[in-house]
Amino acid sequence: MEFTTIKGFRDILPEEASYWQEIEQKARDVFRTFGFGEIRTPILEYTELFARSIGSDTDIVSKEMYTLTDSKGRGLTLRPEATASVARALIQNRLYQQGGVQKLFCIGPMFRHERPQKGRFRQFHQINAELFGDEGPKSDAEIVYLAVSLLDKFGLRNLTLHLNSIGCPACRPEFRKELKAYLADKAESLCSDCQRRSETNPLRVFDCKVEGCKAIVQDAPVIVDFLCKDCEDHFSELKEYIVDVGMEIVLDPRLVRGLDYYTRTTFEIQTEHLGAQNAVVGGGRYDGLVRQLGGPDVPGIGFAIGMERVMALVLGHGKQEPARPDLFVAALGKKAEMIAFRWVQELREKGLWIEQEYASKSLKAQMKRADRLGCKKVLIVGEREIDTGSAIIRDMETKEQTEIPLAEIIAHITSMAEGERRSDTN
Ligand code: HAM
Repeated sequence: MEFTTIKGFRDILPEEASYWQEIEQKARDVFRTFGFGEIRTPILEYTELFARSIGSDTDIVSKEMYTLTDSKGRGLTLRPEATASVARALIQNRLYQQGGVQKLFCIGPMFRHERPQKGRFRQFHQINAELFGDEGPKSDAEIVYLAVSLLDKFGLRNLTLHLNSIGCPACRPEFRKELKAYLADKAESLCSDCQRRSETNPLRVFDCKVEGCKAIVQDAPVIVDFLCKDCEDHFSELKEYIVDVGMEIVLDPRLVRGLDYYTRTTFEIQTEHLGAQNAVVGGGRYDGLVRQLGGPDVPGIGFAIGMERVMALVLGHGKQEPARPDLFVAALGKKAEMIAFRWVQELREKGLWIEQEYASKSLKAQMKRADRLGCKKVLIVGEREIDTGSAIIRDMETKEQTEIPLAEIIAHITSMAEGERRSDTN
């Protein structure tokens, strides 16, 4: 029997992983400029954390969680998203006591038992940003700007920013009432899930993927028409900030997003290039979440970027040039192999990517391997070179060979690699 990955899970092999590292590094660079610190929370949490925050009527909690029971009978769940975990960590570690605003990011795998398709996996990865302790709208604008800046840094453009406000506990009940009444009239045409949701949690009908339900919500009342004065002011100031920094907005009054914790701002950044799974980023404000999880009244806003979707867009822009080793060290004969082995380690300590042959092989075989690895330069050292006191550096493109005194090898190769790096970045 041959073992394979579980459906919807996949291996990321070294060539692709190098692009992931690049994206993650770029994200870290941008987060630093916005003053976000990294948080790493466990992948497994008590199930109740997600049920209480995301909402038990949502698709995520009711259908998509990977849940198991521990030996004491407690439900544990592989995190389907990070916001609930970060809010739990904020409360558990009393981070809010540090005062001011807490800005946290995390990068890692999430798990949802959805039907796999293009851009949708059962294990997927998110870059997550959460800002706690400010009610906005300036922090809303900053969070949206941060998401756009990250995508820009990844080289992704031509994406659209969809924005909505879904109100607060003051104005949402009135809207819920209107929506319930509208849906009650159409109950027979709704799917069985939405028939139940239209009673218990009517906003969730907006997330339904069933065509009949999608058509029905097209004519449903929209929450922006019911916003209270505070929510309306918050939303219009946010729009002003966003427009002022030159971003374009698509106002999307049906963008309620599939998680119950949102209040006021919801947003998505969408692409036309990924078919049905068009959201690269999803986010919003969640002013009641920390309190709902047993913490103090701390408002929050954040977003998550889907890394698989970013990678599909980045790699879809054409094959990227793979990274290449700085040097291959070809050694011939036991004595030379010993010296070369020491050089290899010394050069790696200086941060260079060095490759070597492990078995004793002919020069021809070693050159062939260097070529296959795409090495730019090969250092050749054998008994003759040791006797004459100098080794040879061969440029694999021009075939030019230079003799370097053995005592200068490390310094020469280090400055040569630095020069190459400079010309690569120019
Ligand atoms: P979400 O909309 O469920 O929001 O997910 C955010 C992003 O994760 C999506 O836009 C998509 O790019 C990616 N994503 C979600 N599910 C999958 C999947 N099955 N396969 C591949 N990619 C996927 C949240 O998770 C919220 N916690 C975001 C947030 C943070 N709101 C406030 N703070």
